[in-house]
Amino acid sequence: MILVLLGAPGAGKGTQAGMLAAATGAAHVATGDLFRAEIAAGTPLGLAAKEFIDAGRLVPDEVTIGMIRARLAEPDAAGTVILDGFPRTVAQASALDEAFGASGRTISAVLLEVARADLEARITGRRVCASCGRSYHLVNKPPQRAGRCDACDSPLVTRSDDAPETVAARLANQLESLAAVADHYRTSGRLRVVDGSGRIDAVGGRLAAAAAEIGTGR
Ligand code: AP5
Ligand code: MG
Ligand code: ZN
Repeated sequence: MILVLLGAPGAGKGTQAGMLAAATGAAHVATGDLFRAEIAAGTPLGLAAKEFIDAGRLVPDEVTIGMIRARLAEPDAAGTVILDGFPRTVAQASALDEAFGASGRTISAVLLEVARADLEARITGRRVCASCGRSYHLVNKPPQRAGRCDACDSPLVTRSDDAPETVAARLANQLESLAAVADHYRTSGRLRVVDGSGRIDAVGGRLAAAAAEIGTGR
């Protein structure tokens, strides 16, 4: 099955998808991480995407859908997949339905609901590992050793799109589209809403319960 984890920028999608994938053995597929890998590798796709990402805008559908199709064709995506950051438009959601509708794989969505003020505080305090991409928070999830990744000891950096003006643009440009995607799943009876406020482990408990109801891990 495919579990679509929906949430605004900074809602905690990456944090929660990582924890849930580790607990269930599902594959964690994040379009933001895929784009950042393409950018780091200097590919044409990465160069094209960077312009949109640094402006806080969505990367065009044809680029994004092509990239995710290729990723979902890889062997580890044959079982349960947690999608983090995709779909972000109704066209992307429809493309996902079309790609998997015929195969009988179920697609269910969970929306992590977080208040706007919390989103800003979460993004402003975020630091990410320059090497493995794991994310931390200066206050809410500090690394064991200041400025270094717990997993690989590489330096922690600020994501280029976490600059305050880009954060404002991401929130201004992307929330409407998120609501439309949530509606896409709500009207087809495939949406659960989970309270994303509070501590990381408390949110994780609520998400795990919702995922178990849906059948993630089976
Ligand atoms: P992407 O990388 O997906 O960014 P995003 O959606 O803006 O979300 P974030 O990664 O910023 O936040 P998150 O929800 O993962 O939160 P996290 O767990 O890190 O996309 C980047 C860009 O790529 C987009 O802007 C767009 O341009 C492009 N793009 C991506 N997908 C696309 C698509 N499908 N179509 C078109 N364009 C696309 O948590 C945030 C911080 O809060 C961390 O520091 C964390 O430690 C902390 N935290 C987490 N949970 C809690 C909690 N419960 N309490 C306190 N702190 C918490
Ligand atoms: Mg993320
Ligand atoms: Zn690391």
